[in-house]
Amino acid sequence: MSFASETRRRRTFAIISHPDAGKTTLTEKLLLFSGAIHIAGSVKARKASRHATSDWMEIEKQRGISVASSVMQMLYREHVVNLLDTPGHKDFSEDTYRVLTAVDSALMVIDAANGVEAQTKRLIEVCRQRDTPIITFVNKMDREGRDPISLLDEIEAELGMPCVPMTWPVGQGKAFGGIVNLRQRNMRLFKAGADRVTDDEVVPLSEADTLRQRFGHDFELAEQNIELLTEAAPAFDLQAFLAAKQTPVFFGSAVNNFGVQEVLDALVDLAPSPAPRQTTTRVVEPDEEQFSGVVFKVQANMDPSHRDRIAFVRVYSGRYAQGMKLKVQRTGKELRPTSVVTFLSQRREAVDEAYAGDIIGFTTHGGVQLGDTITEGESLQYTGLPFFAPELFQAVELANPMKSKQLQAGLMQLGEEGAIQVFRPQEGGAMLLGAVGQLQFEVVQHRLKAEYSVDVRLMASRFVGARWITADSADELKKFTDANASKLALDAADTLAYLMTSPYDLRLTQERFPKIHFHPLREHAGLVLQKAA
Ligand code: G4P
Repeated sequence: MSFASETRRRRTFAIISHPDAGKTTLTEKLLLFSGAIHIAGSVKARKASRHATSDWMEIEKQRGISVASSVMQMLYREHVVNLLDTPGHKDFSEDTYRVLTAVDSALMVIDAANGVEAQTKRLIEVCRQRDTPIITFVNKMDREGRDPISLLDEIEAELGMPCVPMTWPVGQGKAFGGIVNLRQRNMRLFKAGADRVTDDEVVPLSEADTLRQRFGHDFELAEQNIELLTEAAPAFDLQAFLAAKQTPVFFGSAVNNFGVQEVLDALVDLAPSPAPRQTTTRVVEPDEEQFSGVVFKVQANMDPSHRDRIAFVRVYSGRYAQGMKLKVQRTGKELRPTSVVTFLSQRREAVDEAYAGDIIGFTTHGGVQLGDTITEGESLQYTGLPFFAPELFQAVELANPMKSKQLQAGLMQLGEEGAIQVFRPQEGGAMLLGAVGQLQFEVVQHRLKAEYSVDVRLMASRFVGARWITADSADELKKFTDANASKLALDAADTLAYLMTSPYDLRLTQERFPKIHFHPLREHAGLVLQKAA
């Protein structure tokens, strides 16, 4: 198959939702439906097995939240579908943001009883900033929920784009009868059960009388609503969807594996294949022959006694083949992974080949950071993987001073993973941790103990924010650093940052040093792209 046809059959999407809306359940059913897995267990069983296979972070077990995001690949209708899970908890929104930089579309799961919840709103904002096309799945139709029309209104208002229903529910809760497929003009009758795959009864709408007899008022109401929507809602427009200007909406019940096939078909039929991507120097087309990709996530490997880590790389162009020589552009060094894996239905396997859109994992002992561009040789740096200036700071104090080396190593690695931001004050003294969410501190404290045998106390810090620094000239920079030494620090990528004690402090310093630029965002290693605020 040619590069172009390999690329065109890729679909890479993230699944996003507020915790408990049914993201993990839907993921499992998508895998089941595509044939990637054959036995559907209950969610509980799956969660338990997930602990055994991929959940090496104790903290995740303790809290029952998904700290780590994972990647799954499946084949469906001759298409390679790459699904990226995102952590639902708000304290890990940075990780989620980075996952969203690595996908071409998003699948949003909404709980029919709760509508658009807080965390979903945040995720929507990120998708909107990046113009990521969104497919919407309204889940839990087998439960008493909100009226579908009012749900659509809410989704429309929150998304800021029209909703186009592709399926429509007949009844809800105990009376849930099934869904009408508006394009195929038929009704799929609801049957409870987790592992049904193809034995659904489907009745064409031309037999509406039978359906009216069977579902009575619920069917008549659905008919009225469909008529109303056909007049009031815009028709589905592929270009508008791809431009993130409308979202197709599907109804169903993930736990019953119902309405899931429609979503999988939509991913194949409607969702985009990999698009060209911007670098600092040029736009890279997905079917160029030379391999290139970006590290969008780094994660400690399962075995804490080996300090190896997996760098998750989203392929942007070319083809990866086993044994290929690759370079990390930031350092100019060759990447020497101990293994290269693909993520097939929750298992890891040695990767044969990969194309634009695929996610591959390089196991390394270091030398790779979040945001690194990896190529066969060409000097490229992709843009668009941001670090946000932290708003919460704590100073790290060792319980046992003899462990200082382990602490340095641990913090450096956790910093490179992006689990937390680590700042080394220029004047020495305790290392500082910067986070966007409070829970990140707890995870780091826990992991330092579990993986590096280091006990730390976290102490309050006087800092409330950071800005990365660039200057118009070396002279200006020297004047600034001489005058502010006590508030300067280097982060994990050795980028200079100014730590502020209040917003007022920042304003004052900005006024005193007009030729210094203070950036609230930085991209990959050392490069600050955003103009100063
Ligand atoms: P998340 O990843 O978005 O956090 O949600 P998850 O899939 O874990 O689902 C959260 C809960 O919602 C689970 O129940 C799950 O069984 C339930 N659920 C998912 N889809 C549906 C659906 O279509 N209908 C109904 N009625 N429930 C659904 P739980 O009680 O937390 O777990 P469990 O005891 O079922 O394992």
